[in-house]
Amino acid sequence: MSAIKTYIDQNKNRFIEELISLLKLPSVSADKAYQQDVLNTADAVKNYLDKAGCKKVEICETPGNPIVYGEHIIDAGLPTILVYGHYDVQPADPIDLWDSPPFEPIIKKSESHPEGAIYARGACDDKGQMYMHVKAFEIMMSLKTLPCNVKFMIEGEEEIGSESLEWFVKRNQQKLSNDVILISDTGMISNEQPSITTGLRGLSYVEVEVTGPNRDLHSGLYGGAVANPINILTKMIASLHDENNHITIPGFYDKVIEASKEERLEMAKAPFSLEAYKKALDIEDVYGEAGYTTNERNSIRPTLDVNGIWGGYTGEGAKTVIASKAYAKISMRLVPDQDPDEITQLFKNHFESIAPKAVKVKVTPHHGGHAYVTPIDNIGYQAANKAYTETFGVPAIPQRSGGSIPIVALFEKELKSKTILMGFGLDSDAIHSPNEHFGVFNYLKGIETIPLFYTYFTEMYLNQ
Ligand code: BES
Ligand code: MN
Ligand code: MN
Repeated sequence: MSAIKTYIDQNKNRFIEELISLLKLPSVSADKAYQQDVLNTADAVKNYLDKAGCKKVEICETPGNPIVYGEHIIDAGLPTILVYGHYDVQPADPIDLWDSPPFEPIIKKSESHPEGAIYARGACDDKGQMYMHVKAFEIMMSLKTLPCNVKFMIEGEEEIGSESLEWFVKRNQQKLSNDVILISDTGMISNEQPSITTGLRGLSYVEVEVTGPNRDLHSGLYGGAVANPINILTKMIASLHDENNHITIPGFYDKVIEASKEERLEMAKAPFSLEAYKKALDIEDVYGEAGYTTNERNSIRPTLDVNGIWGGYTGEGAKTVIASKAYAKISMRLVPDQDPDEITQLFKNHFESIAPKAVKVKVTPHHGGHAYVTPIDNIGYQAANKAYTETFGVPAIPQRSGGSIPIVALFEKELKSKTILMGFGLDSDAIHSPNEHFGVFNYLKGIETIPLFYTYFTEMYLNQ
């Protein structure tokens, strides 16, 4: 057995216990009620990095949540890997749908994790995956095999748009200089078939408000004579897709780079079972843009989805009312080369233009970000693939993901470096959902694979 594997075997219970201690902290960035827990989590991450042997670790204050920054420089002639992750998590709601409390981690077996998985908010996204890097670093320090320099940057606002990280990156280009950025905050195809994420979608997120009459009205006295904002809003939303599920916003597709036939053929080779996909989600059929496969629809194509919609009476029983206002939160997932600000503007113009005179419409932009696609002919990808091949026994498949980590495109712009997305989660891990979990197998495999990336990247860097 390799020294790394032996070390993991002898320390795995502690590795799991430490992760559990982090998962007990409810670091929900979206809700100010958890502010103290957010700060405590940053401290806990700092302490664990210290303990792992990182020479310089600091809590960097920002206008928002602090960033944990660590640095272990051994030789200016060696390459530097910048590890990014996030310690904040999504809100746990709806709490009622969890089988166990979201911040009281437990280990349970599941269909995709026969060896057990850790159930807690943030288990996979991203505390579990972020912490793999701390433990991989501990291993390299203990075995005295760290082959290169490393910097850690663990933020606390990823789930709310990374505003402070953007602020931090723009002010610290020198401090953050690196030869490659390494992130574990994505997934892979399966535990038998690893994949490396080569693309992320961008995002434009807006909130809309439709106002009708200046007060809630009796739906009998006024119904039929004035615009009902909920009726109007739902009609407007429905019109945003045509019968082929194309998005109808003028100009929306103008900058979309169509994937080539070759690329689509290559994508289609990845193992995928439509039957298993439908079964896992308990759906009779899939649904989406005409002319594209399921895997294309959720990776290389842009989308528009209502994330939330409200208004009027939703309490018990029936109340006869025409509400004054109706609201929705709408996200658009973007692909290269769509520009998030431009798309937001196109949406706003269109949405305002389709509203009847009987209502007023307000569109408020939230966060956004550019899509990211990385080529595979670079030493970062090759080193990652070699590492996966060794620990999983088969080469990894490159795969574009539908999720977004908007800060990755900013890293490329500001720090001029490529990001390698070595994710170890599975789609079935229920990130952002009730009963989020992370396989113990995946956690330990990640810890085993990361040091190999360090080794191969350094070798390839020095030989190029
Ligand atoms: N880690 C996810 C993104 C992700 C998950 C990418 C799985 C690929 C595969 C990240 O924490 C996330 O949830 N991002 C948000 C965007 C953010 C601006 C709130 C998203 O994709 O909705
Ligand atoms: Mn994440
Ligand atoms: Mn997330």
